[in-house]
Amino acid sequence: MKKQILSLLVAAMSMTAAAEVNYQVVPLPQKIEIEPGGKFFTLVQGLTVGYPADNALMKRNAEFAEEYFGFLPKTADKKGADVSLTLGLKSDNPDAYVITVGKKGINIQGASESGVFYGLQTLRKSIMNEQGEVRLPFATVSAEPRFAYRGTELDCARHFFPVSFVKKFIDILALHGINRFHWHLTDDQGWRFEVKALPELAEKASVRPHTIIGRNVGLADPSNAIFDDTPETGYYTQQELRDVVRYAAERFITIVPEIDLPGHMVAALSVYPELGCTGGPYEVWCTWGIADDVLCAGNPKTLEFLKTVYGELCDVFPGELIHIGGDESPRVRWKSCPKCQAKMKELGLEKEAQLQTYINKEMESFLQKRGRQIIGWDETLEGGLSEKAAVMSWRGYEGGKAAAKLHHHVVMTPTSHCYIDYYQLKNTNAQPLAIGGYLPLSKVYSMEPVPADLTDEEAQYIMGAQCNLWTEYVVSPDHAEYMLLPRLAAMSEVQWLQPEAKNYEQFLGRLEGLKGCYKKLGYKYCTGNE
Ligand code: ACM
Ligand code: ZN
Repeated sequence: MKKQILSLLVAAMSMTAAAEVNYQVVPLPQKIEIEPGGKFFTLVQGLTVGYPADNALMKRNAEFAEEYFGFLPKTADKKGADVSLTLGLKSDNPDAYVITVGKKGINIQGASESGVFYGLQTLRKSIMNEQGEVRLPFATVSAEPRFAYRGTELDCARHFFPVSFVKKFIDILALHGINRFHWHLTDDQGWRFEVKALPELAEKASVRPHTIIGRNVGLADPSNAIFDDTPETGYYTQQELRDVVRYAAERFITIVPEIDLPGHMVAALSVYPELGCTGGPYEVWCTWGIADDVLCAGNPKTLEFLKTVYGELCDVFPGELIHIGGDESPRVRWKSCPKCQAKMKELGLEKEAQLQTYINKEMESFLQKRGRQIIGWDETLEGGLSEKAAVMSWRGYEGGKAAAKLHHHVVMTPTSHCYIDYYQLKNTNAQPLAIGGYLPLSKVYSMEPVPADLTDEEAQYIMGAQCNLWTEYVVSPDHAEYMLLPRLAAMSEVQWLQPEAKNYEQFLGRLEGLKGCYKKLGYKYCTGNE
């Protein structure tokens, strides 16, 4: 017994003295080949990192290596450096990387700069929890993600999150190898995007004087609502947004901005009531649910307004995809609006849903002139998709499936697997108030974004998957982190791993290491794994 305790002690001491890493991180690399022979490269102070000259992104990668590991990016000449960051990996996948650890040191080679960045993340997660001398076994570690679109959505309209948190959120995405930040910027309850030509949007439509307390299922009986007395305000200036775009791009994250149309527009209607079918008056919504009041599709001013807003949106956000929303837009006002009905007659439309398609087509051609593609929620299928519109399938997989069959690009984000505003533990008393539902970690992990009954050709249209964090009931940055983590870790394996490589039990083991990283980085997370 004594002997056993002694050997345990010795083992514990040697663990703090020298830690040998195993590269088994989240998302799991495709290949981890440790060289036989027990050789390793030891991380010591003063190691240098080289990178190709005249490449700003690789220079930035070298700066990240300094931030993460203390490597010194002293020279733009990679010769003679202990760690080298290189390009030229032969792969069709720009995000592919290979880490080679050998007697000459460490080489992280990418098929492009983003691949090098993902290699750095893998190395970072491999060593972050180690103490004392860190030893990297001679090895080859490589990976490439399954999907090109690896997203996460954050709703900053229902609750406003400051730029400092948005940057932390982007850091969290980067840690998980996620490369699209779908930013929901406007809704009935608040407008957060500065439009210079329409200053009332930022000044007034961003202000919610108070918010309903507790759960609310719509406006069935507004007289019963009890409100807090805390105004919810805030918007992002275009200068701030450009700074966030740059911050995200350095981390190989493209922002997909969303201005939700023609529904979810009550905040905008509160300052431009003439854009609603009834003419208002309207107020920024202080409760949750789906509003009947939407943009009037028959008023020419509506398209003028939208083109001004999206024109400025394009000035700020350079990414190809622009999200036009399109979800939960009742057609009840359009049915009784003379302008909308006249527009239907003029265009020869049979049903109100086609009015939404008419707006989408107008916006698509406006945005295409700026080199952009539209993406919308799956309701945009109902009146017929515009020419090249991509679809975000949220009410299940069916919308995405139908769109893929029509050869439209698709992002899968069904409520059943991707809505991380839902509870993550069975015991709802152990969590902050949520919108409802139950989406445990294991369910996110089990997601398969490509429906089995698509042909190989149709399956190519599934660009990827994403989690959505709606924030009706998510009131603070800490709360947002708690909802995100660790479910984002499960999503990152959905996005990166081939289905046959996924294994939930093994994932849970590796997740313990990632939780260590969360702790080190000061991220809040849910400690239960269901
Ligand atoms: C949605 O959750 N309304 C897209
Ligand atoms: Zn109308």
